[in-house]
Amino acid sequence: MKMIDFLVLFMDINWVRSQFPGLGNPTVFLDNAGGSQTLQTVINRIGHYLIHHDVQLGANYAASVQAKAALQKATESLLVWLNAAHLEEVVVGPSTTALLRILSLSFGQTLSKGDEIIITDVDHESNRACWLDLEKQGMVVKTWCINRESQRLESDDLVALIGPRTRLLCFTHVSNVLGAIHPIEEWVGLAHERGVQVCVDGVAFAPHRLLDVQAWDVDYYLFSTYKTFGPHQAVLYGKKSLLEALPGINHGFITTSPYKFQPGNVNYELAYSLQAVVEYVAQLASGPVNRASLASGFKQIAAHERTVMQPLLHFLNNEPKVTLVGPESDAERDRVATVSFIHHEIDSRTIAQAANQAQFGIRFGDFYAVALIDALGLRQRHGVVRVSLAHYNTADEMDRLIRFLSEFFDRY
Ligand SMILES: Cc1ncc(COP(=O)(O)O)c(C=O)c1O
Repeated sequence: MKMIDFLVLFMDINWVRSQFPGLGNPTVFLDNAGGSQTLQTVINRIGHYLIHHDVQLGANYAASVQAKAALQKATESLLVWLNAAHLEEVVVGPSTTALLRILSLSFGQTLSKGDEIIITDVDHESNRACWLDLEKQGMVVKTWCINRESQRLESDDLVALIGPRTRLLCFTHVSNVLGAIHPIEEWVGLAHERGVQVCVDGVAFAPHRLLDVQAWDVDYYLFSTYKTFGPHQAVLYGKKSLLEALPGINHGFITTSPYKFQPGNVNYELAYSLQAVVEYVAQLASGPVNRASLASGFKQIAAHERTVMQPLLHFLNNEPKVTLVGPESDAERDRVATVSFIHHEIDSRTIAQAANQAQFGIRFGDFYAVALIDALGLRQRHGVVRVSLAHYNTADEMDRLIRFLSEFFDRY
């Protein structure tokens, strides 16, 4: 490896861990796809906002003007993170589930009876239930189903589902169970060629790779910031022209984005704190907040996670009584470090509970990807065991987990 590559890829794990005060806990946090640890700088900014900017926005007195500017700066950092072009494209809200519900309530008003929406059976229920509810208004929801053999959503199956009445395609960028990265550009392209808009759940992707809504040309994209080292909030990106055209769900006299999608307004202090996440990723690359620093920061994150994940994949792939649920590949383009498996003789609940006793914070179940677990026939096994890494996990933690699992499987 050339020195320059080494410098770009090297992540100082000790510095990284020192930024997360919760990592002092004896639990080994391997449920990061459920929720990540929070940065100290995020915590600081929440306090800072409440001490220095605790006023209602939109007034003309100095403190209100300053608070508005501070919040706008924080939103501008989200723009850089998403690679969005306009402030109106970024809607901060309480959760991805809530934002998707809001989007479906708005989008639904633009549809006519018989219009079609495509969802998948791989998605978290968040990007399914709100669209399925539109059937009550006469819309038709079709499901793009996983190919059980390849454990993939196949592009040909998508093309077959799109018809003249299809208005929206919804899919997840990364499955929160399988860990597989979907070819977002290809699928957005297939939909756009046929005049269909696209809504992507990026929740399981955002902690691991850099977002780029313009490169993907996606119409709507969402992620949850409590899984990306920040507070319990979420972000909806929507193309400016599309959000402008949608009816809002706020008071009727509020007609501009993002406010028309934020009934009761945004949580100021939490939205303000999000800037610290963007600054942190840029700081990994020792750079200012810009796309180059974020790209370099996420490169380090991806490389580190892959290194820590590799022995786990190797172990699971070589355990005769274990089946990996998701791609065997450890390549950065194929998967993130969210690894699920089943054991042929021990159900998933038993494994996870034993691991919990040994201080490993892993989980079992369907992770609200209810349709996926049913499609894969894994309900009776209590779903899968999921080990989901963040970039602050260490090779030592992984060694310990593998040793534990290996001994547990042998003993059982
Ligand atoms: C892939 C995926 N999508 C959506 C959600 C829902 O996110 P939120 O809790 O912000 O509503 C989750 C939460 O686990 C998730 O993993």
